[in-house]
Amino acid sequence: MKALVLIGGFGTRLRPVTYTVPKQLIPIAGKPMLYHVLDLLPPDVEEVVLATGYKSDIVDAYVRGHPLRWPVRTVPEAQPLGTGGGMKNAADGMSDPFFLLNSDVIADIDMAALARRQADRGGVGVMTLAEVEDTRPYGVAALGEADRITGFVEKPEPERAPSHWINAGVAVYRREVLDAIPPGRPVSFEQEVVPQLLDRGLYGLRLSGYWDDAGTPERLLRSQRLLFDGGRGGKGALPTGCFGSGPVAVMTGATVRGASFGRYVTVGPGAIVESGAYVENSILMDGARVDRDATVIGSLLGPRSRVHPGHRVTGQVLGEHGEA
Ligand code: GDD
Ligand code: MG
Repeated sequence: MKALVLIGGFGTRLRPVTYTVPKQLIPIAGKPMLYHVLDLLPPDVEEVVLATGYKSDIVDAYVRGHPLRWPVRTVPEAQPLGTGGGMKNAADGMSDPFFLLNSDVIADIDMAALARRQADRGGVGVMTLAEVEDTRPYGVAALGEADRITGFVEKPEPERAPSHWINAGVAVYRREVLDAIPPGRPVSFEQEVVPQLLDRGLYGLRLSGYWDDAGTPERLLRSQRLLFDGGRGGKGALPTGCFGSGPVAVMTGATVRGASFGRYVTVGPGAIVESGAYVENSILMDGARVDRDATVIGSLLGPRSRVHPGHRVTGQVLGEHGEA
C-alpha cells in the first residue's frame, strides 16, 4: 500500500511561525511534526506521496536532507486545492486501497489493524475516529450498525454535531474515492466528498489511545506532552550541566549549558539557552535564543527568535527573528 499525506495547508493558526516555516516541520518532542505522523506507517509501505502546496520547496528539501525509511515523492499544487483537490492532484499511480494521513495529527494508531478493518468490512474506506469534548474544529461522524458512518458534518455548530466521534485525520480508502473528487478546482474532501461516500459504505474505527491535532499553539504543546508521555519523545533526559526536571529533547547543535528546564521542552537545532534561563512546556525552533536569566513558559519560539536577558515570555508565539 501507498500513503497519501496532505501537507499543503497554510497553518494559519500557527502564524507568525508559519509565515516562514510549514507547520509540519515545526519540531515536537525532538523531531518535526511530519516525522511523528509518518512514524505511524508500517515499514512495508511502498511509497509515501506528499501532497504539498504552501512552502512545498521547503518540505521537499527537508525530506531529501532527512531521508525516511520509504521512498518519498512530493506532488506540489500550483495553487491551494483544498484537501480533496490535493488528493486528486496526487492521485496518479495511487495504490488500491491507500492510507490517507493529515500531517498534523499526533496519535497512537495501529495502521495494520486499520487496513484489516477495511478488508473485513468492504466498502470504500475506514476513517479513524477520536472522541473529543469540543467537536467544533473537526469533522463529526454519526455512527450506525457495525460503526458504519451514517452522517458526516465538517466543523458543525455544537447543536448540529451528531456525536463526539470526530475524523482523526488518518484513514484507509479504496482508490475509487479519488475518482469521486471533481478535478481542476479546490475541493474540501471532508465537506464535499465524504458525505457522498456514505452510501457506498464508509466505516469508523474508534481510537482508544491518545490523539491530538497539533494545528494551534495550545494543541501543539499538548501534542508534545502526549508524545513525551507516550515514550515517543526519546529519552528526554536532562542535558549535562543543566538543572530541573525535563523531559527535554535537545536537537543537533543546540547549546544549553547551565540552564534550567521544567517539563516538556524541545530545544531545536542550533538553539541556545543561556545559563540562568528557565524553559518549560515550550518549543524553541532552529537557532532560537533564550538569553541569561530569561524565562520561557508555554511558548513557541520561531527560528532565530530571541528572548532578551531577564525577560519573561508566557503563552507566546514568536515568528522568525521575533524578539521579546
Ligand atoms: N495539499 C493540500 N492542499 N493539503 C492541504 C490543503 C490544501 O489546500 N489544505 C489543508 N491541507 C492539509 C493540511 O496541511 C493538513 O495536514 C490537512 O490537510 C488537514 O488540514 P487542516 O487545515 O489541518 O484541517 P483541520 O485540522 O481544520 O481539519 C481536518 O483535520 C481534522 C482532524 O485533525 C479535517 O480532516 C477534519 O475533518 C478532521 O477532524
Ligand atoms: Mg489540522
